[in-house]
Amino acid sequence: MDKLAIRGGKRLDGELWVSGAKNAALPILAATLLSPEPVTIRNLPHLHDITTMMELLGCMGVGLVVDERLSIEIDASTIKDFSAPYELVKTMRASILVLGPMLAHFGKAHVSFPGGCAIGSRPVDIHLKGLEAMGATIDVDGGYINASVDGRLKGARILMETVTVGGTENLLMAATLAEGQTVLENAAREPEVVDLALCLIAMGAKISGHGTDTIVIDGVEKLHGCTYDVMPDRIEAGTYLVAAAATGGRVRLRDCDAGDLEVVLTKLEEAGATVTTGPDWIELDMEGRRPKAVSLKTAPYPGFPTDMQAQFTALNAVAEGTATVTETVFENRLIQTHEMNRMGANIVIEGNTAIITGQETLRGAPVMASDLRASASLVIAGLVAQGETVVDRIYHIDRGYECIEEKLQTLGADIRRLAG
Ligand code: UD1
Repeated sequence: MDKLAIRGGKRLDGELWVSGAKNAALPILAATLLSPEPVTIRNLPHLHDITTMMELLGCMGVGLVVDERLSIEIDASTIKDFSAPYELVKTMRASILVLGPMLAHFGKAHVSFPGGCAIGSRPVDIHLKGLEAMGATIDVDGGYINASVDGRLKGARILMETVTVGGTENLLMAATLAEGQTVLENAAREPEVVDLALCLIAMGAKISGHGTDTIVIDGVEKLHGCTYDVMPDRIEAGTYLVAAAATGGRVRLRDCDAGDLEVVLTKLEEAGATVTTGPDWIELDMEGRRPKAVSLKTAPYPGFPTDMQAQFTALNAVAEGTATVTETVFENRLIQTHEMNRMGANIVIEGNTAIITGQETLRGAPVMASDLRASASLVIAGLVAQGETVVDRIYHIDRGYECIEEKLQTLGADIRRLAG
């Protein structure tokens, strides 16, 4: 298993391009199953999760033509097999996103039930209840979800009891081909949901209200092909901003949208950073200052993103003062703090809150990544720590960060991959 070796203590300084957003790309790739014509998706990030989704589409018989810049032309008309096997779903929960589109377009789907994962139980009950409300028959047998519908799905008013990104996306995709109108209430407002809606609209779907908590979809009989560019990755952007801030450094990010990162940028300013933004760039400068502790509580968009929580926990570990970080979206998402304490951090967990007393410095240590964003936070901790940190199990990082070591090297970090 590959590891990352980091010699900390260098101030990051430089300029980076932000990749396409993983969490927008995955639902958009699933959405191509709705079209009888080829769809071309561009600006896909080079990531394991993207390869897993392509593998999943490929094993169903979907035609894929990939060019060297990872633009993909996807032709769902050649589909032969309507199933998503356990082997792929277990490595990537987002595989569940093929359920809605497959059912809406082909009337059937056989998708493995995603298991629990490191950051909590993560059920899919809201996805299934919504599809049932649209007329699908669903039974769960042998660890698989068997879904079918006679003819087309029927539009419905669906009130989701929890704000769920994946649930909103699955139902949004399914509703585009349903008969009549679907209203999704308490819908997720995440920018990635909006990006999916914009791609579906480019494919001929009739959608309004995306970006609000009520999305209205007027089903159409058929969608068509299009070419669509995936939005920039706001979490990747946020991660590099925090990394620069934690090291007292400076970074200028290109090809990103400051509007999607409002609450994160506000918190970075609270930590003492000077943040300037333009139409497609963000610059952060700490001017060598040590960050100030910032308390936060995660919440669905436009609240503070759970996917940025671990990185801010690392920032707080070396900040001046004490901060509380409360995780409300997922259970069990503060596990990285135990590894950080091994590096000399002072973090106490009380329920779903981490109380972090900032230390002047951390000490390098061998640490183990437990999930995607937790791994990023350990890399940030390694960048500020004295001596060498070796982060093990970095396959988690490769699921979500394109060329992380090259990008950090561009900023002057001493980081290298150790092949395992
Ligand atoms: C997506 C993101 C993930 C991010 C999360 C929250 C992708 C591929 N992943 O995950 O990076 O951390 O949004 O912003 O886009 N829930 C239920 N029942 C359901 C569905 C969800 O109870 O049917 C609960 C979950 O257990 C969790 C909460 O709702 O506590 C939010 O989960 P959800 O928004 O669905 O996360 P994902 O879509 O899996």
